[in-house]
Amino acid sequence: MRAAIAVIAGDGIGPEVTVEAVRVLLTVGQRYRHEFVLSEVPFGGVAIDLHGDPLPAETLAACREADAILLGAIGGPKWSSPQARVRPESGLLRLRKELGLYANLRPVSVHPALRGVSTLRPEVVEGVDLLFVRELTGGIYFGAKSRDAARASDLCEYSAAEIERIVRVAARIARTRRRRLLSIDKSNVLETSRLWREVCERVMRAEFPDVQLEHMLVDSAAMNLLRRPREIDVAVTENMFGDILTDEASMLCGSLGLLPSASLGEGKRGLYEPIHGSAPDIAGQGIANPYGAILSVALLLRHSLQLAAEARAVELAVHRAIGDGVRTPDIAAPGHRPATTRAAGDAVIAALGGAG
Ligand code: IPM
Ligand code: MG
Repeated sequence: MRAAIAVIAGDGIGPEVTVEAVRVLLTVGQRYRHEFVLSEVPFGGVAIDLHGDPLPAETLAACREADAILLGAIGGPKWSSPQARVRPESGLLRLRKELGLYANLRPVSVHPALRGVSTLRPEVVEGVDLLFVRELTGGIYFGAKSRDAARASDLCEYSAAEIERIVRVAARIARTRRRRLLSIDKSNVLETSRLWREVCERVMRAEFPDVQLEHMLVDSAAMNLLRRPREIDVAVTENMFGDILTDEASMLCGSLGLLPSASLGEGKRGLYEPIHGSAPDIAGQGIANPYGAILSVALLLRHSLQLAAEARAVELAVHRAIGDGVRTPDIAAPGHRPATTRAAGDAVIAALGGAG
């Protein structure tokens, strides 16, 4: 097949991990005879420096035209002083909103070789395989904001339609897994959560009677995520709860650097990015973990290009590279020399049977 991919390397470690992800994508292209046409576009802090705007019009246009967007990471101290007029993050929120990417999938699974890497006990994290479905274009992130010297406000709003569609995405995926859906809210306090719970109940009863639904308050979910993470199959939640809980969930597998994400809308086009940030403290050293970015390529192949076998091959190649001990400093085994970003990319490419 032929597919157009917009590539956004971004800031900090973004370029380093994206290079490896792109090499893996091109290897898949060679091995399986697909033509991936890449166009690199400026976005985030880099774009603020170049154009005074984190999401320049040409970048947005290129993203709209692409079949999928691969993103590294954005942000950094240079653009985040409290006085900053424009921030890289606002570009990311606009991009998600403009493209209607309301469903953010964040899978978390623990590689057997990395049981000991988590700060939690190995027997707690062993066998964890869960998926967060985070609502991505509503809630407090997008409500009206106001600010004066003595007061600030961020409005949290959800419509029934926004809740319905995200619950459907999560329930459809749950059907392909263990048929269990955990809906996380704060309905003992928030009106938006009470609506969330009602709509969720209604959609599930009418359309997904075969999927077992459980509700949990977000505070309790934060605790259970650390206490009994294996029991979670698919979890669906609103924008900000999902942001917070997925960083927490990443610690189950030991490093934020391992986790990919897919942001999807109604069509096939999606935005794929590791969930980690730009990590300015380690940028430029060649030691960032590229596996989250590479696994994002797998999600891109699966969800935007419908190349399930290729997606699986990339996941297995990462699995194998980690199993063979190719581990960047964040997940390194005690007493072993940590791998560089490039070495990790090389190991995945070798496992895919490509020369790189
Ligand atoms: C994420 C990030 C973003 C978010 C930031 C960079 C705006 O934390 O993708 O989880 O809060 O959504
Ligand atoms: Mg986040």
